[in-house]
Amino acid sequence: MTTDYDKIAKEYQESKLQPWRTHIERYTLLSLVGQIQGLCTLDLACGEGYYTRLLRRLGADPISGIDLSKGMIDLAISQETTEPLGVQYRVSDVRDINFGAKSDLVFAAYLLNYASNYEEILSMCEAIVRNLKPGGRFVTVNNNPDDPPSNFETGRKYGYSKRIHGRLEEGSPVHWSFHLPEGTVEVTNYYMSTLTMERALHEVGLTHIHWHKPQVSPEGIQRWGESYWQDFLANPPITFFECTKR
Ligand SMILES: C[S@@+](CC[C@H](N)C(=O)[O-])C[C@H]1O[C@@H](n2cnc3c(N)ncnc32)[C@H](O)[C@@H]1O
Repeated sequence: MTTDYDKIAKEYQESKLQPWRTHIERYTLLSLVGQIQGLCTLDLACGEGYYTRLLRRLGADPISGIDLSKGMIDLAISQETTEPLGVQYRVSDVRDINFGAKSDLVFAAYLLNYASNYEEILSMCEAIVRNLKPGGRFVTVNNNPDDPPSNFETGRKYGYSKRIHGRLEEGSPVHWSFHLPEGTVEVTNYYMSTLTMERALHEVGLTHIHWHKPQVSPEGIQRWGESYWQDFLANPPITFFECTKR
């Protein structure tokens, strides 16, 4: 069963403060995004707007954030009200959006791992391609399908752990726990193989798929030391890719 983010919006927001989020997730994603000054951008499954705001500050314009959870979008809008950046937010299933093929960049942090079967990932990919200009880019981070279940507890030192019930197979629920100072917050998403993801991307006309491993920021190495990150990098729980609309 998928996670209802309305119930954990604030806690999930706090999980973004864990060091691996800043020094690996954010650093790698923003390196992949590159120069985006003036690019029409969509942030799908934007949550409370963590990346939407960062992309806007990097020059994305116009930019909209879309999320299924009203609780998450309420948090995003309240931050937009406190510090207006000119971001538009909308509560919607990303599979329903149609802004026209206008976006230069579609970005999504942890959207595809909410698809529990081929039809669902296909309809997410159709939405991505429907909203991208020809030649536009899709940049994303999701669960790493190659992270073996035997590795699921090594994340504890970084503040998270994962578990599954039974065998890890297409559509298996993957339960993440983020261990925060105030307690543990749990989210559930789904396992999907690289092959299935690539099949859906190709089917909708997304090509030039480049997978990227996590990178640690120079600040992360300086602050925590190189050896601190070794377990994460040896079996990364997340993976990144970019691709292009034909
Ligand atoms: C792990 S959170 C990531 C939020 C944000 N991208 C970030 O990195 O902080 C996943 C988000 O995906 C949203 N989500 C899941 N399925 C969705 C769908 N079909 N359409 C829109 N949002 C979806 C959830 O509501 C949740 O806010």
